[in-house]
Amino acid sequence: MATILVTGGTGFIGSHTCVELLSANHDVVILDNLYNSKEDVVKRIEQISGRSVRFYKGDILDDTILDQIFTENTIDAVIHFAALKAVGESMEKPLEYYHNNVGGAVNLYLAMQRHGVHTIVFSSSATVYGQPKKVPCAEDAPIQEATNPYGTTKIYNEKILSDLCAAKKDFSVMLLRYFNPIGAHPSGLLGEVPNGVPNNLTPYVAQVALGQREFVRVWGNDYDTPDGTGVRDYIHVVDLAKGHVNALDYALHHHGVQAVNLGTGVGYSVLDVIHAYEKVCGHKIPYQIMERRGGDIAENYADVSKAKTLLGWSAQYDLNQMVADSWHFMEKLNENQ
Ligand code: NAD
Ligand code: WQD
Repeated sequence: MATILVTGGTGFIGSHTCVELLSANHDVVILDNLYNSKEDVVKRIEQISGRSVRFYKGDILDDTILDQIFTENTIDAVIHFAALKAVGESMEKPLEYYHNNVGGAVNLYLAMQRHGVHTIVFSSSATVYGQPKKVPCAEDAPIQEATNPYGTTKIYNEKILSDLCAAKKDFSVMLLRYFNPIGAHPSGLLGEVPNGVPNNLTPYVAQVALGQREFVRVWGNDYDTPDGTGVRDYIHVVDLAKGHVNALDYALHHHGVQAVNLGTGVGYSVLDVIHAYEKVCGHKIPYQIMERRGGDIAENYADVSKAKTLLGWSAQYDLNQMVADSWHFMEKLNENQ
């Protein structure tokens, strides 16, 4: 089994992935600067998995801590989650986003190169496709210019890592293009803790369900979709986490670069999500139709055949399970606040 450096490992997707790596018998070393997460997540990961984790509080921009980690541990591969991820904020603070998500990433890749670690799984996003011409969207769909700096940082990282693989034949890179990760760990111990006003749909719906906000603002109902609201491929974060374990196994046994979609292959509308949430919380969730949100696309969902054939992975959980686990986590969070 391998020892994996997980950058951003106390974050939403990283924490769930650590649990799945540990349950697949890998050892886990986390590097996180706790900008968007809390250190007690480490204990929760250990509690769920019954295994211990080595945690370094630090930044991917800091060479000293990177060298320390690669010297103190025999790292076989890196899963790189650490990034800033708020689309709107990236339009206000482009330099901070490029510095952290591109500069920080290159710094990490250089440290890997210095220490002879050549296997990396990178958190990319379906945002690289923009509005695809055809859905379900396969990995060979054209990459389109992003509408915001956050999305551009994903495109740049994909390019940087592809160039690295072209130059260095012993590197192995997985570009995992996540669709819309939602849900939480069924234990209720791990999930997405919204920071300020949530941009993403499910944390916002959850706060309305809890009575913390008045109504869901539905960004447009005049799209060319079955009910006019935006359609996305929501994927349970536990499924997504498991996909990383398969991707890692693939990367440890192959060289070169592979881009793989991680989604369910099924599209749900904004109203579908609200109605699914109503079922688990047991009451109506008020919403109002608003103008379209700038930069939004009408619909995207994944062609998941490559993940299945290449990685032997497909998502198991449906929308009902995603919202049930999200609700369980949010209720617990609310009780403890
Ligand atoms: P998150 O904010 O919960 O986790 C990211 C973690 O990285 C946080 O714990 C944060 O403290 C840490 N971090 C940020 N900058 C750092 C730095 N310079 N050094 C060390 N640690 C740093 O986000 P998430 O939702 O878990 O996303 C994980 C990855 O997946 C990100 O790269 C994100 O862009 C990507 N992604 C997320 C989604 C989504 O909808 N959540 C979709 C597609 C791609
Ligand atoms: C989903 C749908 C909205 C909020 C974004 C990023 C992407 C990736 C995932 C992270 C859309 C609608 C939303 C609300 C709404 N990011 N909506 N009211 O836009 O598909 O993707 O998050 O790394 O890069 O762009 O996700 O959850 O924001 O929106 O009506 O309050 O819900 O219009 O149709 P999106 P989302």
